[in-house]
Amino acid sequence: MRALITGGAGFIGSHLADRLVAQGATVWALDDLSTGTRANVAHLDRTPRFRLVEGSVLDPALVDNLVAQCDVVYHLAAAVGVRRILAEPRRSIEVNLHGTEHVLAAAARHGRPVLVASTSEVYGKNAGGPLREDDDAIVGSTRTTRWLYAITKAADECLALAYARETGLPVVVVRLFNTIGPRQTGAYGMVVPRLVDQALRGAPLTVYGDGQQTRCFTYVDDALAAMQALMATPAARGDVFNVGQPREVTIERLATLIRELAGSDSPIAYIPYEQAYGAGFEDMRRRVPDISKLQRLTGFVPRVPLEEALRRIIEHAKSVHGQRPAP
Ligand SMILES: NC(=O)c1ccc[n+]([C@@H]2O[C@H](COP(=O)([O-])OP(=O)(O)OC[C@H]3O[C@@H](n4cnc5c(N)ncnc54)[C@H](O)[C@@H]3O)[C@@H](O)[C@H]2O)c1
Repeated sequence: MRALITGGAGFIGSHLADRLVAQGATVWALDDLSTGTRANVAHLDRTPRFRLVEGSVLDPALVDNLVAQCDVVYHLAAAVGVRRILAEPRRSIEVNLHGTEHVLAAAARHGRPVLVASTSEVYGKNAGGPLREDDDAIVGSTRTTRWLYAITKAADECLALAYARETGLPVVVVRLFNTIGPRQTGAYGMVVPRLVDQALRGAPLTVYGDGQQTRCFTYVDDALAAMQALMATPAARGDVFNVGQPREVTIERLATLIRELAGSDSPIAYIPYEQAYGAGFEDMRRRVPDISKLQRLTGFVPRVPLEEALRRIIEHAKSVHGQRPAP
């Protein structure tokens, strides 16, 4: 089996590549290295069953060519991270809309099964709890740049479902809730790698707002197990699934845990949202997945508790810190 992973040099994509290669598949990763890196997949250089194609999902001929030669497609390439979206809104819209359009069109032309990575962000400000796939998406004004990620990903979902209905494309949409693991970078606004980096540097752990907002964090291996299980389940095709684990934690508690597990004595610093992201920034107090639909279809059970996930991330970050040249 040959799998194409768009965004295959990114955080989740590189772990998926590891997993598929270990399972015996051949993997081609298409990545423009905008937020992904060669280093994320450097350890796969030695296997002839892995190939990194440096290019963009915005190149329809390239996408078509690669999809034609693969048996299955995982579409993970996207402009991600609050900071990146705020800094490059136009490019983010183009990548998230046109990139997905090219991948879906090619998959339909060649009859390839495809997984589309969406996000819990599509629920927007819906802070009710546990969120089910058919719950309302409540997004803010189009004048608030933050929402364009949710809006473009929601449009991707609509397009994927339209392809399924009109062409019979075997497509599965996954709404990933906060996914964490080694290789995730804090550079674009992701909270766990940022706090881990601060703890290891002995810098204050910056918590935005009052820190009482909650999130549910899923270890990357668990998210990938769910994604693969869905791809192996014919009844999942043409449908949308929450992927995550439902244990809630406040960001303040997350910071405390990271400080403890990293053996750090960094203080916690509370920063107003406006200072972190500019005036008018809106955040959700709560975001919890209802994963009963995923569980009913695949029997999925998350295996890695938050503490263990954080331990692995801290160990990995320490090894990377150790490789940095002294200042
Ligand atoms: N990590 C999370 O918590 C999370 C949550 C919800 C959804 N997601 C989704 O999962 C997917 C993977 O995210 P991630 O966390 O691994 O982030 P990431 O930034 O590490 O991965 C995205 C990858 O896409 C690549 N990319 C961007 N534009 C591209 C283009 N035009 N052509 C080819 N490649 C391009 C980047 O270089 C990067 O390698 C994304 O679709 C994201 O929206 C992630």
